[in-house]
Amino acid sequence: YRNLRIAVLGGGSVGSQVADQLLRHGDELGSRIGAGLELVGVAVRDVDAPRDTEIPRELLTADAESLILGSDIVVELMGGIEPARTLILQALNSGADVVTANKALLATHGPELFEAAEQVGAQLYYEAAVGGAIPIIRPLRDSLAGDRVERILGIVNGTTNFILDRMDRHGESMEEALATATELGYAEADPTADIEGFDAAQKAALLASLAFHTRIPLDEVHREGITQVTLDDVRAARKAGYVVKLLAICERIVDAAASVDGVSARVYPALVPLDHPLAAVHGANNAIFVEAEAAGPLMFYGAGAGGIQTASAVLGDVVSAARRHVVGGPGVAESTNADLTVLPISAVTTRY
Ligand code: NAP
Ligand code: HSE
Repeated sequence: YRNLRIAVLGGGSVGSQVADQLLRHGDELGSRIGAGLELVGVAVRDVDAPRDTEIPRELLTADAESLILGSDIVVELMGGIEPARTLILQALNSGADVVTANKALLATHGPELFEAAEQVGAQLYYEAAVGGAIPIIRPLRDSLAGDRVERILGIVNGTTNFILDRMDRHGESMEEALATATELGYAEADPTADIEGFDAAQKAALLASLAFHTRIPLDEVHREGITQVTLDDVRAARKAGYVVKLLAICERIVDAAASVDGVSARVYPALVPLDHPLAAVHGANNAIFVEAEAAGPLMFYGAGAGGIQTASAVLGDVVSAARRHVVGGPGVAESTNADLTVLPISAVTTRY
């Protein structure tokens, strides 16, 4: 039974929830994999700052570099470019697998990080970087690997969806709604990234690169945020039968006349008809439509932001990384819940 050492870098909205889940459910997760999952520490800037969850004081450290040493899995949840980039490179070079939710870093330094991982035979997982809790990276990379994706369209930023929704349904100002989104842990450390569309553009670059098997540089994603959208715009849109949504659209463009194949990736506030499924995406939820040649249209929907919701995607990656470390098998334990009993229908309280 191998003991896997897990270091978490960042103890904010997402990191504190990941630490909490590992502390509370690590044993159960580990028994499913056939390994011990040990949280060896959580690196933060200020060890005395209040946290969203209770992390034992002895697990908190301001020394991220030392924490990485000897870890099998490093979970980067600091955000930003530096020191996250350097720490991830150090972790990979020390042989650890890395899990990150950092789309800003991946959209700008992704190739460097993936190359570093490949060189040492490590893995870099990033399911939480797009769509919060929604599984979208694995479906694009694995499930749809044999298909030809034509188009991805949807809402990929929870904060701006939350703001536009509050403006539309509650008549709140953008400032008020942004303050609530920040309080709820949806917004980036610098919320300009959300409201100016940078975060959605980073996600669009990641999705398009994956879907179209190429590299879409961030500066080639057309970007407009929501700062120019006023309450009057939102009201006028509703009166006319629309709702304003910040959309990300990535599509394969075939210009037969000019004999060029290309990709277009763009982010901008758009008018969505009230009877369109995207109009019913409220709060910080995201919805991503993927259109593939053989599969046809697929829809991915759920919590696009939020600490605990995003922790779900992060932990899925931690489990994937842990499975890789388990010697002599796929790392999938047999039924660890053998004591669960099938109950009679009379015990069912929820029916549809
Ligand atoms: P956050 O609340 O701002 O937390 C960042 C954490 O990193 C804090 O604990 C901070 O320490 C620590 N940190 C930052 N710089 C550091 C440094 N130089 N040295 C040591 N520790 C440092 O951020 P978050 O919302 O959890 O987001 C983390 C990552 O997940 C980001 O890449 C974000 O884009 C991504 N993400 C977030 C969400 C979401 O809903 N929040 C969803 C999906 C993806 P202190 O606490 O001491 O300041
Ligand atoms: N700030 C991001 C959002 C977090 O609101 O969508 C999830 O990536």
